Amino acid sequence: MADLDGTQAEQKQYFSDVPQESPGYFLKGSHQYDWGLKNRLAKVFNPANGRTIMLAFDHGYFQGPTTGLERVDQTILPLEPYCDCLMLTRGIQRSIIPASTQKAIALRASGGTSMARPDELSNESLACSIEEAIRLNASVLAVQVFIGSVHERQTISNLTRLIDQANRYGIAVMGVVAVGREMARTARYFRLATRIMAELGAHILKCYYTDEDFDSITSCCPVPIVIAGGKKIPELDALKMAYNACEQGASGVDMGRNIFQSDAPVPMMRAVRGVVHGGMKPDEAYQMYQDLKAEQA
Ligand code: R5P
Repeated sequence: MADLDGTQAEQKQYFSDVPQESPGYFLKGSHQYDWGLKNRLAKVFNPANGRTIMLAFDHGYFQGPTTGLERVDQTILPLEPYCDCLMLTRGIQRSIIPASTQKAIALRASGGTSMARPDELSNESLACSIEEAIRLNASVLAVQVFIGSVHERQTISNLTRLIDQANRYGIAVMGVVAVGREMARTARYFRLATRIMAELGAHILKCYYTDEDFDSITSCCPVPIVIAGGKKIPELDALKMAYNACEQGASGVDMGRNIFQSDAPVPMMRAVRGVVHGGMKPDEAYQMYQDLKAEQA
């Protein structure tokens, strides 16, 4: 089988310094889609720079009342003005998010397992019909894919079935790389997972940032990649991570805990915005975070 074990970075040509062209449209790999899909993507990604800030607060779909999300109305609604896209579940969307929001919706479309059964977490199904996605005016549907897990085939099938349905209506599908305990968070793993999902038709990929060779992941993925924030880390480190990811080809962030679990969520949200959209360096954005936090006190 072709190249089954030949995925070492040093054997490859990623052309990381040569941007992939997308003639006539601002977003990587998206220039040959139909009008409706392009329009939805332009609501998620800012056409001025091709980047997005998705605010991720869908964690409750398998974790219940995650720290910082016990009362979404109290903690997330104040952040809404500063993001481009809300990544959430349909339950929270209907019960909490004002239908007057102008933000794009990235709707969680897979699930069916919980942290009460950690050994079963990869055993997901599709958890939202395409009609429901249309009713909720979703621009993006997010589906978790567990490459390398016992449920790899099942979750890849979830992805491809959802893409078939979403393509009928011009809705984007975001493949979320789910890293099980047994999988290392390496560039090699994320190259494998994101590229497989892009080849199968995902319009956007989400994975974690890697300190080494992150640019090789974005280079060999033909469509946009956004990074998840992961566990809460110090604010300056999270801002550096967002900055470095964008510098190395990420099309923005899909960040949750590092914003809503911050000591000062609104200042952190605005600092992330400074990095992703405002051309700020991490130190500058961190200073803004501290200043805004002090003003709140
Ligand atoms: C996992 O529950 C979801 O896919 C989250 O949306 C994702 O992990 C991003 O959130 P965080 O930045 O907290 O990792």
